[in-house]
Amino acid sequence: MEVNKVYLGDCIEIMRTLPDASVDLVFADPPFNIGIKYDVHNDNMPYEEYYKWSEKWIKETYRLLKNNGSIYIAIGDEFAAEINIILKRTGFYFRNWIIWYYTFGQNQRKKFNRTHTHILYFTKNKERFTFNDNNIRVPSARQLIYNDKRAKPIGKIPDDVWQFPRICGTFKERIGKHPCQMPEDLLELIIKTSSNEGDLVLDPFGGTGTTAVVAKKLKRNFITMEISKEYYEIIIKRLDGKVEEIKRNNKIEPEKQKKLFDFE
Ligand SMILES: C[S@@+](CC[C@H](N)C(=O)[O-])C[C@H]1O[C@@H](n2cnc3c(N)ncnc32)[C@H](O)[C@@H]1O
Repeated sequence: MEVNKVYLGDCIEIMRTLPDASVDLVFADPPFNIGIKYDVHNDNMPYEEYYKWSEKWIKETYRLLKNNGSIYIAIGDEFAAEINIILKRTGFYFRNWIIWYYTFGQNQRKKFNRTHTHILYFTKNKERFTFNDNNIRVPSARQLIYNDKRAKPIGKIPDDVWQFPRICGTFKERIGKHPCQMPEDLLELIIKTSSNEGDLVLDPFGGTGTTAVVAKKLKRNFITMEISKEYYEIIIKRLDGKVEEIKRNNKIEPEKQKKLFDFE
């Protein structure tokens, strides 16, 4: 199988062409079905249609994952419960329901501001999976606050609430018009935890290519898919290091900025 490849097209159709048990880690940040204005994808499917579509692509990731593989799915409040059920029904084992708490959430008019996304972490096997705890340890409160002599010098495994800023329209890391770019630091934590150098990381919903870029940086192989030609070309250029060129060609006019990112 060809790796380090970006596919242009529908992820379900493309995944169906790939061999069983070939992937070590899946990270998926699917459209949340909340009416975001993507280039091609309709983010306003009827409930049943979105549910069945989610079942289909999750089933394909299950087939593609090796027996010791892991999957992380980012999802909004609206469908987090459904995706959790689909993962269980597909045969995956639950490990964590991670909350990504982000600063710079969207302001709301008649409800509390949303400042989190769910990241559901499951494995294909109940006992055997990659979890590189020594690559991700952070200083514990015992070390940092209490200066407690009992504190383990190697620190602790991070908590299941993660804080990374959302990549807003004005941020340096932002590539351009794509409405949902993930922070590289978040992908780095997932990839370091659940894969090793040389492993294969799959992201069925490429977007701006964050997963592929971080996998490449961390010496993992990657495969990613994107249905929009415009976004696909952004991924290819980003992987080529042409970030300034992408930014020049994808400038967001200030008056359009609010419309594009203030989708809730
Ligand atoms: C939430 S975004 C992913 C953003 C990505 N994590 C990033 O950091 O840039 C979801 C992406 O999935 C793409 N998409 C939607 N349906 C798809 C499909 N059937 N196959 C492949 N890509 C699809 C959309 O065009 C969109 O770019």
